[in-house]
Amino acid sequence: MSERLEDIAVAMVANGRGLLAADESTATIKKRFDGIGLESTETSRRDYREMLLRADDAMRDYISGVILYEETLFQNAADGTSLVDIIRKADSIPGIKVDAGAKPMAHFPNETITEGLDGLAARLAKYHEAGARFAKWRGVIAISNALPSRGAIRANAHALARYAALCQEAKIVPIVEPEVLMDGAPGDHSIERSEEVTEWTLRTVFEELGELRVKLEGMILKPSMVIDGKKARKASVDEVAERTIKILKRTVPAAVPGIAFLSGGQSTEEATAHLSAMNAAHDLPWKLTFSYGRALQQEALNAWGGKAENVAAGQRAFTHRAKMCSLAAKGSWTKDFERAA
Ligand code: 13P
Repeated sequence: MSERLEDIAVAMVANGRGLLAADESTATIKKRFDGIGLESTETSRRDYREMLLRADDAMRDYISGVILYEETLFQNAADGTSLVDIIRKADSIPGIKVDAGAKPMAHFPNETITEGLDGLAARLAKYHEAGARFAKWRGVIAISNALPSRGAIRANAHALARYAALCQEAKIVPIVEPEVLMDGAPGDHSIERSEEVTEWTLRTVFEELGELRVKLEGMILKPSMVIDGKKARKASVDEVAERTIKILKRTVPAAVPGIAFLSGGQSTEEATAHLSAMNAAHDLPWKLTFSYGRALQQEALNAWGGKAENVAAGQRAFTHRAKMCSLAAKGSWTKDFERAA
């Protein structure tokens, strides 16, 4: 496969395939495993992720790349094959989460700044060597009537741009992820407020990317959708799609090859329906696909339940959900496909 940034970025969003975000930190995967009563150990994390990556049909047909946590990038399957090789054999691309998490931001109560820039150039060289061809950094933007502040948006956008420039020097495609929280506190914001904050955030992010000479052809944007807060959900699927497309057109240059949304706590079906509506109704300058964590994994995690005898059931659930998301990336998902399964 080509090693040019532009070609990798295009491959990440081509043919109705999208990204599997399997980069939960050790603390987050513990929360997910708590939900099925499973202890999180290096082995149980390996078994779970190996199950997903060995779902051959799902990987080959629907998953263009997998965002890994550092532990997984260097981990071997039960039979000794590296997990990276399993991904590559499915003609999918290994990627890596490189940020060190969103931390409380000094002087900005209830807002965060994402850490991880110090030493990043050296880590990226190591990740490239291990096979990673793209990376992810998540900036988190709080939202309420009073938040976010200009200072927090600016600082997070600047960090995203510094990260993206370092990635490109290391021949790694940066996924630039500014997430406006849907399910953070207080979570009762309207869709109008979401639209305003998301537009402001994306505008600032692209200003910073330009300032730091990030090559737009060699990156992927991973935004949240314009959507009302989890405690105020009223907007229809079409309204979410319309408002999201409107602000993306205003802020994301056509040179960016693709936009891969996060699911952010939407139900699996909501996340699928929204993506499909955006793709069905519009002629767009970029590919629109998924980079879902929870919305791709929740059903598989439940079907597996941490039991070896349920691996096939977990893989079936994952394959179904990946197929639904892929239909959505082509704008051709309908509820009937869910019922047919
Ligand atoms: P969710 O789709 O569960 O929001 O996760 C995607 C992700 O990578 C968040 O950083």
